[in-house]
This record gives sequence, C-alpha cells and structure tokens, in this order.
Amino acid sequence: MGGKLSSVQGEVIIELSGVGRNYVNGSNQVEAIKGIDLRITKGEFIGIMGPSASGKSTLINMIGCMDSPTSGEYRLKGVNIEGISGSEKASIRNKVFGFVFQAFHLLPELDVASNVALPLKYSKIPKKEWESMVKKALATVGLDELGSRYPDQLSGGQQQRVAIARALVNNPDVILADEPTGNLDSATGQSIMEELLRLKEVYQRTVIVITHDSKIAGYAERLIRLEDGRITEDMQLSITSKDDRLINPFQISGEEESDEYIL
Ligand SMILES: Nc1ncnc2c1ncn2[C@@H]1O[C@H](COP(=O)(O)OP(=O)(O)OP(=O)(O)O)[C@@H](O)[C@H]1O
Ligand SMILES: [Mg+2]
Repeated sequence: MGGKLSSVQGEVIIELSGVGRNYVNGSNQVEAIKGIDLRITKGEFIGIMGPSASGKSTLINMIGCMDSPTSGEYRLKGVNIEGISGSEKASIRNKVFGFVFQAFHLLPELDVASNVALPLKYSKIPKKEWESMVKKALATVGLDELGSRYPDQLSGGQQQRVAIARALVNNPDVILADEPTGNLDSATGQSIMEELLRLKEVYQRTVIVITHDSKIAGYAERLIRLEDGRITEDMQLSITSKDDRLINPFQISGEEESDEYIL
C-alpha cells in the first residue's frame, strides 16, 4: 500500500513524487526515506506515526524545506522547490511553514512576546504590525495575559502554547509539529492537540503532527504510518467525537469496513 495517494478533494499544497533522502557518512549510507509519493491538501490534519528511525523527522524536515530530497521531486503549491535559490527557499519556508518541536525551543532570555515575534524578524512584515500580530497569536492559544513573562515562569504546556503561537504568528499555511507532546503529561498533551485541531477547524490551517502516542494520533483525520523509510499505511479517519479520538487509530485498520479510510 506504500506510496498510494489519498483521494481527498481540495487544493493540493504539498506533493512529493518518488522522494528519497540518503544520508552519507563516510562509507556508511542510510536511506532514511525511500521513494515516497504523498499529496497533502489544504486544511488536512495529519498524524504521522512509525517506529524510531523510520524517517518521520526526515520527512517532515523535507516538507518544511529545512532539508532537501536526494531523489525525486517536491512541489510546494505547484512549484518545484529544488529549482529555486537558497534565499528564495528560506523565504518560502518562513512564509509557508510554522514549526513546533518536542523541546519547545523558546529562548530563555526573551520574554514570551519576543519569542513569539521571532519569525517576524525573518519576514518582510513591517515592524509596526508586529505587536498586534503577536497579541493575536497569543490570544489564539489563550495566553494573551502572559506576553511579559519569561519561559521559565511558565508550565510545560504553556511553553508549548507559546511555541504554537510563535509557529502561527506569520499566518503560515502549514503547521509542522515533531512530537509536540513528547515532553508533556498525557492530559496536557491532549490539550495541545485540541489547540492544533482548533487551528485547523477555525483557521483552516494544514497541520502535520508526528507522534509516538496513538492517543495523540487519534486527533488526526488522516494517519500516515512510516516504516523503514516507506509509507506503509495512509488512512482517512472519519472520527467525530472526542471519545472516538482516544481509541487506537491503528486498531481501526484491522477491523471491518475499508470505507472507513480512503487509500
Ligand atoms: N544527519 C543525519 N546523518 C545520518 N543519518 C541520519 C541523519 N539524520 C537522520 N539519520 C538517519 O535517518 C534515519 C531516519 O531518522 P529520523 O530522524 O527521520 O527518524 P524518526 O522516525 O524521526 O525517529 P525518532 O522517532 O527516533 O525521532 C535514521 O536511521 C537516522 O539514523
Ligand atoms: Mg524524529
């Protein structure tokens, strides 16, 4: 089943065709991603699961233009990104993607508002607009009151919310999150997923989340499973209630109706 394209309707923003990523360390070669075909449509909420070293971070880093394929083609909003210069690529990365990481990556010497403003420094957005954009991003994650605190004065869940606000501040099309709940307890992790889900539902963002936790992955509407650098499962979940989200999504594939998901 690996490499089959989902038949979701809508504007395709991310399209990988035969994408591979080899790492070469001396005489050692690692084929981290092996000829992946993948289409992602605007507004999808996608979970990526798979064992350690299966290529999840490598894949999301290529999608986010932080890394480049060593084979195949990546078209972002219809543009072959390998055909453009490094500075153009950096500018596209800044405009199109917001990143959230497991370890939050907030700068301890900056207050919350300044942390959230960081991506704006690399954008062409005029400085006079920054304050209102930062306020709006913080309000979106329910932290409007905390702009002048410092990261070490916040809980882990609040720090991750600040990181989400930072990922959002530029109004990017796509939020990429690599194990965003990995450092949080289960209840806080679930509230972070609710937050990401809201970005999709209220603001029509495309959200891609890597997780090891099937409960967390249960928030996604489409689940992609990676194994040894290949997509081994790509399924659409028709889940409506929060309780349903908490079942193991990969158990569904072992049960009856194949029309539960689209391959
Ligand atoms: N910079 C690098 N140089 C060499 N090999 C690398 C590099 N980055 C990743 N790899 C290798 O590529 C493979 C995929 O790594 P990747 O980080 O994408 O896995 P992952 O699925 O995100 O794993 P985890 O769940 O542990 O985060 C692994 O075998 C890893 O050792
Ligand atoms: Mg990883």
